[in-house]
Order: sequence, then C-alpha cells, then structure tokens
Amino acid sequence: MAASRAAIALQPSLLSRLEKARARTDSLFNLLPPNSFYDRPVPERHRLIFYLGHLEAFDQNLLGGPLGTGPQDAALDKLFAFGIDPVGGGLPTDAPEDWPNIANVEKYKRDVRERLDAKLRDRSTVGASGPALADGKLLHVAIEHRLMHAETLAYLFHNLPLDRKTPQPWPSADPRPAPSQRQVVVPSGTATLGQRNNSGESFGWDNEFETQKVFVPSFSIDAFPVTNRQYLEFVRAGGYDDSRYWTAEDWAWKIQQRLEHPHFWVPRSDSPASGPDAQWEYRAMFGTIPLPESWPVYVSYAEASAFARWAGKKLPTEAQWHRAAYGTPEGGERIYPWGDAPPESHHGNFHHQRWDPTPVDAHAAGASAFGVLDLLGNGWEWTSTPFGPLNGFKPFPFYPGYSADFFDGKHFVMKGGSARTDACMLRRSFRNWFQPHYPYAYSTFRCVEE
Ligand code: AVJ
Ligand code: FE
Repeated sequence: MAASRAAIALQPSLLSRLEKARARTDSLFNLLPPNSFYDRPVPERHRLIFYLGHLEAFDQNLLGGPLGTGPQDAALDKLFAFGIDPVGGGLPTDAPEDWPNIANVEKYKRDVRERLDAKLRDRSTVGASGPALADGKLLHVAIEHRLMHAETLAYLFHNLPLDRKTPQPWPSADPRPAPSQRQVVVPSGTATLGQRNNSGESFGWDNEFETQKVFVPSFSIDAFPVTNRQYLEFVRAGGYDDSRYWTAEDWAWKIQQRLEHPHFWVPRSDSPASGPDAQWEYRAMFGTIPLPESWPVYVSYAEASAFARWAGKKLPTEAQWHRAAYGTPEGGERIYPWGDAPPESHHGNFHHQRWDPTPVDAHAAGASAFGVLDLLGNGWEWTSTPFGPLNGFKPFPFYPGYSADFFDGKHFVMKGGSARTDACMLRRSFRNWFQPHYPYAYSTFRCVEE
C-alpha cells in the first residue's frame, strides 16, 4: 500500500529523534555522581536507579515483541517496567540493596539499545512487524515517553541536595519586578479539544483522541500565570493557616505535610520559618537565590485552588484554557497561541533552554490572539478539569494503562509546558496530569472569573 510505504520512509528521522532523546536522558544521568543513583529525592517516587533501567525496559517491552528480539533479561525487563504514582500517602519502602548495581544496569541499557537498533535499522523487520511499528506510532511512543521522563527526572533532580548533583552554572538572582496582573476578556466561543483520529500525520497519545468541541461562555482570565510575588500576598495573608480556602482533603494533606509555603521556597535563615514576617529564598535547580518575584509560582493543585478561593476566583477548565490560548476574535482556532508557526525560543521558555523559569512577561511573541501570555512553557498550568477520556477514547492496545489507569477523578489536567518540556509535546492536544497533592512538578496556574 502506498500509505505504508510512505510511512516506512519516515523511519530514519524517527530513529534520529530516538537517538537525540537518548542523548538527552544520558546527559541527565551524567549530572549524577555514582553515589547519588540510589537516592530517592521525592519520597513518593522510585530511587533514581529505577529510571536508568526504566527508559530501556520500556523500549524493550514496547518494541521487543513487534521487532522479534524476544526478552532482553526477563527479570530486569520486569523490574524496570513501571513507575509509581501512589495517591493518598502510602510511600515505597524498598532499600538501595534491593536494586542491581549501576554497572549491571548500564550493561542492560547497552544491550537493549544494541539489539533493538539492529532490528530498527533493518527496514524489512520494521515492515514485517505490523502497522503500529511501520507507521511510526510505537517509535513516537518510545521517543515521547523518554522525553517526558527527561522532564520528570528534572523534577526529581531538582529535589536532590546540591552536593548530590554535579554543579552547573545558575542564575545568582533575578531581581526583575513582577508585572502587575491584569485580566483579559475572552468572548464566548468554541474550543476544540483533542485531535482527529490517528492518521499517523500527527502523533498523539490515546488521551488526545477524538476531537471534542466545547461551547465556552464568556469569561475573563489572568494575562500571566500567578507570580511568586502575587502568591506571596496569599502567604502573608495567612492563606496556609485558614482552612476556609482549602477542601477538607487538601487541608488534611497540608497539615500532615506541615506545608506552610510553596515547595520551591525556603525561609531565609535569618527570618521566621513561616508567617507574615518570613523572608523567602528560591530553590533553583543548581542553587538557592532570592525569591524571583516575576517568575511563575510552582505549586500543587491543592495550593493553586486555595489561592483561587482566597482571591474569589477559580482555576480555568480545560476548555477555558484552550479558548484563551488558541481561540481568535474571528472565531477560528490557532495551532499555537501565537499562530501557526512552529515553536521557537522567542515564543516561550520550553525545550530545555534553561533549568529554571523566566519572568512571566519575558515572551511577548508568545501571546495568544486575545493577548494572554506565557501559555506554552515556563510551567504547566493547572486546570480544574479531572483527567478523563475525550469522546471516542480508545486505550492503546500496546499500553492500555498509560492514561486509563489515571481516569480516577484524582488527577487533574495540566496544559502548556515547562522549561523542560520538549517542543514535540507543545501540540495543542497534548494533555498532562498529576494528582492534587504533588508539589514537585513545574506546575503553575492562572485564575479565571466567569
Ligand atoms: C504524563 C507525566 C503524568 O510521569 O506519570 C511516564 C508520564 N507515564 N511513564 C508520569 C509517564 C509513564 C506521566 N505523566
Ligand atoms: Fe515511564
């Protein structure tokens, strides 16, 4: 068939993208001295050694069958198959000794790559392996899975003490003042979520299908994500000490975690540890700096919702966010907020340009048709929409739990992207999600009024 012949011709570029993605994750692990691999920087997640094995085990488990390589090492293929996302406080209890040594995992990694690559370079095996591999879908899955982990690994590395990662240059301060927040009116109109059935032209994960048109009544939305400066007002007003702003569950979590401020903030050593008189510093990736007031605040969904309630506002729904980002006054919808041109560095802080945020007003070229700024990059944005299927959702048969395992009403959709989000995942239909009590992600928010 002509279609599949044309699709197989895509393989060389997908293979080079896979190579680049591997170089990206390899360079991340190069930031770790050997004695850090058994650290668990985020208590809810696996030790770092898991991720070293996971990226390869995932590709092996996904591609080994269709390519006919058979298992690499049945025990390691299984040990490294899946990550964890415990909702509700149960923490993993494994010990460093429960994991193989680094040399073994490095060998596993080399072997998997060698065997998969030999088959992938041979077009006849790719062609014979069936449509999912031949049309590039499985390679897209491997590439984007790896690049998503490049981002989630950055969250984990962010939480390593500075002496557990190799020092890198970092901004010693960013004193630019925060722009004053303002609201943009978005007239009523239609938002198109998702994308049309997977033709192979634009890859999408299972949760991005099919399209769903939503009518959105007029609303107003913050022009920028909420800054550290704005959030400081909530902290100083006692927002963390007033249960009225929190749901019962969120409040219980906040008490149990003794959370008094955003996870990325630290009280200055010469100031009270919390309360209205505390002075704050900011934990950037490779150093601590004075609180950059113009940067977006990174907080959990629970904290974002508490701020919104305090401000008498709401978090946007997924459809409102789409409308603000992609809608136009003429009634059309753009491919990106700024138009139809592919992402470039002046549009926003994404695609690994930096380790840390920029001021929320640093990328005027990224403005949407309605003048809403900083939508793609600089931090994922919480929406109030629980993560769920779009109409016509079908799980990928080769990875049925990727999304469906999280359709539990306990995860919320995030849109946009962070400094560590690869440009390939800035497409309009891409949906990220986390649970409401996860304060470690590069996730910010903006508010709406209806
Ligand atoms: C889509 C970022 C929520 O990290 O939990 C990686 C991506 N899924 N391996 C996650 C994912 C399986 C997922 N997120
Ligand atoms: Fe994974």
